[in-house]
Amino acid sequence: MKVSFILNGKPLTVDVAPGEYLVDTLRNNHVLSVKKACNESSCGACSVLVDDKVILSCSYLTQRVEGKKVLTVEGIQKEADELSDYFSDQGADQCGFCNTGLALTIHALRKELKNPTDEDIKNFVVANLCRCTGYQAQFLAIKNYLEAKK
Ligand code: FES
Ligand code: FES
Repeated sequence: MKVSFILNGKPLTVDVAPGEYLVDTLRNNHVLSVKKACNESSCGACSVLVDDKVILSCSYLTQRVEGKKVLTVEGIQKEADELSDYFSDQGADQCGFCNTGLALTIHALRKELKNPTDEDIKNFVVANLCRCTGYQAQFLAIKNYLEAKK
C-alpha cells in the first residue's frame, strides 16, 4: 500500500505493509533518529510530531499519516543541537537514547504554551521516560532553554 505524506517539509511516498507502524516505516526509510525501545507505547522514545502533535510512532499506523505533516529531529536539527547544549550544561546528556523524542516534545511544548509553568513543563514531558538522568537535571535544562528562547 502506498502512503504519501510530508516528512520534514518534503513530500514522500512510501510502500508499506498493512498494519505497519510509523516507527518502522521511518526507520526503514533511513530516519534513524526515531528510536524504538519499549515498542508498547510506554516510553516516549519513538515520539514524532504528526500535524504538530506528539504521537508515539510505535503504536501509530503509517496509513494514518496520509496527507499529513510528520516532523522528526532531522527537521529541527539546529534547535535540537541548541537544546543539547542546555542538557550538557546540566549534566543531563547521558546515553542520549531519550533525547530525540524529548526534543520533539519540547518543540511541541514551545508551539502550544507560550509561558509554561513548572507544572506545565512536567506534565508535557511526563511520557518521555529516561533511565539515566533522574529527571531533575533534564527539567532544569528544559526550563533554562525555554527561558532563553522567550
Ligand atoms: S518505543 Fe514507542 S513508546 Fe516506547
Ligand atoms: S539519557 Fe539515557 S535514557 Fe535518557
